[in-house]
Amino acid sequence: MAYIKELSSLEGKEVELKGWNAQKRDSKEIVFMTLRDGTGFVQCIINKNEVGEAAFEAAKRLSQESSLSVTGKVVKDERQYGGYELHATALTVIAEAEEYPITPKEHGVDFLMDNRHLWLRSKRQWAIMRVRNEIIFSIHSFFQEKGFVQMDAPIFTGNACEGTSTLFETDYYGEPAYLSQSGQLYGEAMAMAQGLIYTFGPTFRAEKSKTRRHLSEFWMIEPEMAFYDLKMDMDLIEEFIQYVVARVLGKCKTELSVLERDTTYLDKVTLPFIRMKYEDAVSVIKGEKEVNGKTTLQMLEAEIQELQSEKSKTLADIEEREKKIESGELKKGEVNFNRSKVDQLKNVLKELEEKEQNIPLWLNSAKNFKRGDDFGGSDETVLTKMFGQPVMVYNWPQEVKAFYMKEDEHDKGYAKGVDLLAPEGYGEVVGGGERETDIDRLRRKIVEHDLPMEAFGWYLDLRKFGNVPHAGFGLGLERLVAWICGLQHIRETIPFPRSYGRLLP
Ligand code: 4AD
Ligand code: MG
Repeated sequence: MAYIKELSSLEGKEVELKGWNAQKRDSKEIVFMTLRDGTGFVQCIINKNEVGEAAFEAAKRLSQESSLSVTGKVVKDERQYGGYELHATALTVIAEAEEYPITPKEHGVDFLMDNRHLWLRSKRQWAIMRVRNEIIFSIHSFFQEKGFVQMDAPIFTGNACEGTSTLFETDYYGEPAYLSQSGQLYGEAMAMAQGLIYTFGPTFRAEKSKTRRHLSEFWMIEPEMAFYDLKMDMDLIEEFIQYVVARVLGKCKTELSVLERDTTYLDKVTLPFIRMKYEDAVSVIKGEKEVNGKTTLQMLEAEIQELQSEKSKTLADIEEREKKIESGELKKGEVNFNRSKVDQLKNVLKELEEKEQNIPLWLNSAKNFKRGDDFGGSDETVLTKMFGQPVMVYNWPQEVKAFYMKEDEHDKGYAKGVDLLAPEGYGEVVGGGERETDIDRLRRKIVEHDLPMEAFGWYLDLRKFGNVPHAGFGLGLERLVAWICGLQHIRETIPFPRSYGRLLP
């Protein structure tokens, strides 16, 4: 048995493939079937004269997603996806599928989400999961090559890490316990034992709203480094992200082309990243400070005009195709082609209109941004649009950041925290910073944040026994997958998403 991804090295040979019928169309003598086997997709040419009457009839009847084994010759064909096709000589059905709910036509998102267990088989979802896999592998490579030790933080925890508003509480032998929001506090303890560590595990946040950036359960990678300060932390963040993006661009060309990902912005992920203090970022957002001779307000106004001209082009294209369809002069195939093109264009139009409606909202919230507040999604979008590259914002007002952040001794009131914002509207993908080492200040912050002191005794011990400067950060895996794949919504980045209102499948 062979796998589809190996076909390029098997040209001219006869091989057996086992997989599923992803799609097919047939004529009198030939069935064209797209077979998928998990490693890829390949067109099989099933010719009656080659496979015999019985197998040919079986192929013709075969329902979508039936499983089968196909034997045939590997033939090069540049026009085919993957560059090869299989000329079948024999075929055996393994299991006929019942009528498959997901067909090649367009389906609504709720329907697809209800069928997530099947939706995972479609080509787009297949490509996304392969990119996710490559990202995971490259994350481990990066840290392992640098001598970091992977250590696991517990999932049941007795204390909050990132504020009490997003805690999932469970019953732990009659005591309340929380699902971990972040492995960081444990990461700090582990870094004091191993020097350089990283955790890679599931984290949980009760986010009682549906957004395209939030999940209730997501995977976080959290390195923690003894003897690191904020600057070293930022150096590591940019080196890390650049490494992962470059690896995926190199290794996932097929997947990114399935996703029709325009990689222009990903190609621009080069070192060094832009770094700016929170206060400067606010000045840019509010339009008080120019970037490359432009304010945010001018940039957004130019974008509205661009959108409007794109919209009228799309509208004209739709009209022209609809006229052609109605003219009655087209062949059936051409009518179908134009109809599906019109459907596509209407979707594009909808997206353009949505963007057009968003921009005035962004403009408004940018202009009225209140110095001292945390950034919202639109503020992040506006800021990164000015650069078209990842931006690291550091030195945040202490009030908007977690209790464990170190205060900058030269910049009172500001915490040595950093957020990495991705371009193209993806926003915060990494959050981190230098940790507070002053035990008295930590105690005060625990009280100020209304956290139960007794649950933090072990954490405060780290400041009593060989206290050292240290720093770390957390990368949200799904946010990175969404950005690299260019996805509209985070729900497609994880096999079985958990979000507000969704627990099945
Ligand atoms: O910024 P956050 O809350 O930082 C921490 O948890 C720190 N303890 C990390 C550290 O310094 N070790 O979360 C880190 C990242 C965010 O930048 C974002 O990418 C992701 O986790 N994230 C989410 N991803 C999906 N859904 C959510 N609800 C998320 N909340 C945070
Ligand atoms: Mg954050």
